[in-house]
Amino acid sequence: MNLDSVFTPGLVAAQQPQWPGGPDGEPVTKAVNTLKKLPPLVFAGECDNLKERIAEAQEGRAFWLQGGDCAETFAAATADSIRDRIKTILQMAAVLQYFASLPVIKVGRMAGQFAKPRSKDDETRGDVTLPAYRGDAVNDLEFTLEARTPNPDRLVQVYHTSAATLNLVRAFTQGGFADLRQVHEWNKGFAKDPRFATQYEQMATELGRALDFMASAGVDPEAFKTVDFYSSHEALILEYEKALTRIDSRTGLPYDVSGHFVWIGERTRQLDGAHMDFAAKIQNPIGIKLGPKTSPEDALALIAKLNPNNEPGRLTLITRMGAGAIREKLPPLVKAITDSGAKVLWVCDPMHGNTYEAPSGYKTRKFDDVLDEVRGFFEVHKALGTHPGGIHIELTGDDVTECVGGGEMISEEDLATRYETACDPRLNHTQSLELAFLVAQMLRDRK
Ligand code: PEP
Ligand code: CO
Repeated sequence: MNLDSVFTPGLVAAQQPQWPGGPDGEPVTKAVNTLKKLPPLVFAGECDNLKERIAEAQEGRAFWLQGGDCAETFAAATADSIRDRIKTILQMAAVLQYFASLPVIKVGRMAGQFAKPRSKDDETRGDVTLPAYRGDAVNDLEFTLEARTPNPDRLVQVYHTSAATLNLVRAFTQGGFADLRQVHEWNKGFAKDPRFATQYEQMATELGRALDFMASAGVDPEAFKTVDFYSSHEALILEYEKALTRIDSRTGLPYDVSGHFVWIGERTRQLDGAHMDFAAKIQNPIGIKLGPKTSPEDALALIAKLNPNNEPGRLTLITRMGAGAIREKLPPLVKAITDSGAKVLWVCDPMHGNTYEAPSGYKTRKFDDVLDEVRGFFEVHKALGTHPGGIHIELTGDDVTECVGGGEMISEEDLATRYETACDPRLNHTQSLELAFLVAQMLRDRK
């Protein structure tokens, strides 16, 4: 198969940067030609493995945990920051896995999550208007004309930063760092929420006892030393994603080798748009974000386009309705899709429908809204007899103050203390673990 004939030419791509010279100009072409020569970041066989695991989750035999920054930055791709994000996801996974007795598919919004769709093309401060920040893949957060001008050389930096991040991910998850007993040690004593502290401690103790029991029963400790960890990001900048799409030598089919799993966002999933054409052509497992305005007909049309053969594991629907809407908006979608016989994994993104601006001007989310949307998600699936397949969370391993509430009782006034995100507010380390304990209980009670 010739790659040039894979994608339909001339389709409209929403949310693309105003590159100097345009999308076919010299600067973009130069970056694309560099990217095309670079080796794959992930391997087609790994994407297939993930698809098989998603197929398991679609049948209720695994749970999906996807988490990481809203927007990764080049500056935050340090050993400490990457380690602490992986650690947070592994801790959450251990809690979920133990209490739900289900394997957890661990997926980072990591090693490629550098581009952002924006509601406005420009940002105005005082009497200065500049292009909006679209992620480190495109421009810089600093509010100057030079920093905000899209620069395609950044796409090459996305590749190298993703490669360095993935290298650490692979080292950490294969080299003993992910050992379940270590993960348990990390989980000790984190509990700060007075509402749940005792319960958390009991659960952590129970988990420790189970590990001791397995060790005493002669279970090979090596079995706990490595984990599979997959990378994911929004497939937004099509020049980048297409330059990293390769024909797999085993199957002769195209895979986007920039990440194991890519999703198409709420703002770029137009049925006849370039993003949908891209997603339909690649063989990776893919996700689609669905907001509260999605009708059952919209969802069925997206499914028909992306997975016409109803391949298991291929399609994940990531709903982001908002805590106030999920109980009303999700059931008609789940009913229509279940009745159609389409195989999908239902994942709850309780972040993007719950963002608001605090009086101080910071964009934030309430921990209790996040929790309530996940609770609504479980309620809907329980009522309809379908599987609550997983969660999609914006989080960091650091002690930031970006979302309000949780055991540390971060208030709107506290937001300024440590507000570091380049885009949306993330759950901090403690809030992420608290969420995992609470979701673990929902999973335990899911049937
Ligand atoms: C995101 O996941 O960061 C995002 C922009 O989400 P959505 O497409 O759901 O708005
Ligand atoms: Co976001």
